[in-house]
Amino acid sequence: MERRLFDTTYYVGACDRTKILFENLFPVPKGMRYNSYIIKDEKTALLDTADEAVSEEFLENVKDTLKERSLDYLVVHHAEPDHSALVMRVLEIYPSAKLVTGVQALKYLNQFTGCDLSARTQTVKDGDVLNLGKRSLTFISAPMVHWPEVMVSYDKETKTLFSADAFGSFGCCEGSLFISNLNHTEEWESEARRYYSNIVGRFGVNVSALLKKAEKLEIDNILPLHGLVFDRDCNFAINKYLKWSSYEAETDDVLIVYGSMYQNTKKAVEILSCNLFEKGKNSKIIDVSYTDFSYIISDIFKYKNIVFACPTYYGGIFPRMEQLLNLVKKTCVKDRKIYLLENGTWAPTAAKNMIDLLSDLKADICENKITIKSACDSETISQLKSLAEVISDC
Ligand code: FEO
Repeated sequence: MERRLFDTTYYVGACDRTKILFENLFPVPKGMRYNSYIIKDEKTALLDTADEAVSEEFLENVKDTLKERSLDYLVVHHAEPDHSALVMRVLEIYPSAKLVTGVQALKYLNQFTGCDLSARTQTVKDGDVLNLGKRSLTFISAPMVHWPEVMVSYDKETKTLFSADAFGSFGCCEGSLFISNLNHTEEWESEARRYYSNIVGRFGVNVSALLKKAEKLEIDNILPLHGLVFDRDCNFAINKYLKWSSYEAETDDVLIVYGSMYQNTKKAVEILSCNLFEKGKNSKIIDVSYTDFSYIISDIFKYKNIVFACPTYYGGIFPRMEQLLNLVKKTCVKDRKIYLLENGTWAPTAAKNMIDLLSDLKADICENKITIKSACDSETISQLKSLAEVISDC
């Protein structure tokens, strides 16, 4: 299908609506969209390919869009297979097409394909320009957003940033791809935050560096490799990325993540949540045993105040909570206020172990932990009231 976005820019990507886990890790209840674009100027350029799962639809879109024209350039901004799986197919179908990519991306493509693509490649680096006629692409290196070889490109004629994984989100979308037509900023925000925090959240410094370079550009359109296309509200997306990459929380509300074996720890967090509400603080409670970590990580990027509550297990942390905290540590999230609540019948040690595990995190961990001995008693109830006061006074 031919799908013109604006000017001489066309959409040739496709959705995988059967996908359950993106990267075999992250649930995608609304599937996954792999974006790819064609610019039809004096020269034609295909910007990235797509995932193997959508190969037939993608190749048909390319054919329908190019029509009688041949393909001059295949630009690869990012060598990860969800965007590069079809590079060989494209090069076979369009034998005169030149591959345009960075040196490092070429190395990765050679590794993935088992072929040496050097002879067909024009390598580019930061600042290089690919002229297409009226339009041109200026390459900007964006290492670790999300892999080391990543480049984005900017077309000054249409003020468009081809942003690779940056500004992408989970999920397919129906009908229009444009954020302006769908008024989907809210939907974009929650799935884009989950995508960002889990996939590039660890690389905040690198994302900030890219945003710094982008500051100098006039941007009217952002075309990412996943999700919606920004034809307006680019500043909304950029401001969100500025926040996320600096690990700045978006709300002073409280996130309560708990694990509970016999509902006694759960009872404690319910009491805490009520106390917080009475103090004018909203809270969100998540059961760590029944929630995919990607949603919790996303909320950890959003919330300033976080309570972790769980039982002691084998003299340490309730396993599911321990797995989560190991992941939290890897995101390098910082500037959070963390409060701990532990449960233990004979030797409660979960809180101490949680403090040790999170010690590398640049976070403010409240030393006044609450210890429940098996079930809440009057003393615990009073401590929960005090904790709500401490949190709400912060
Ligand atoms: Fe969408 Fe890093 O690949």
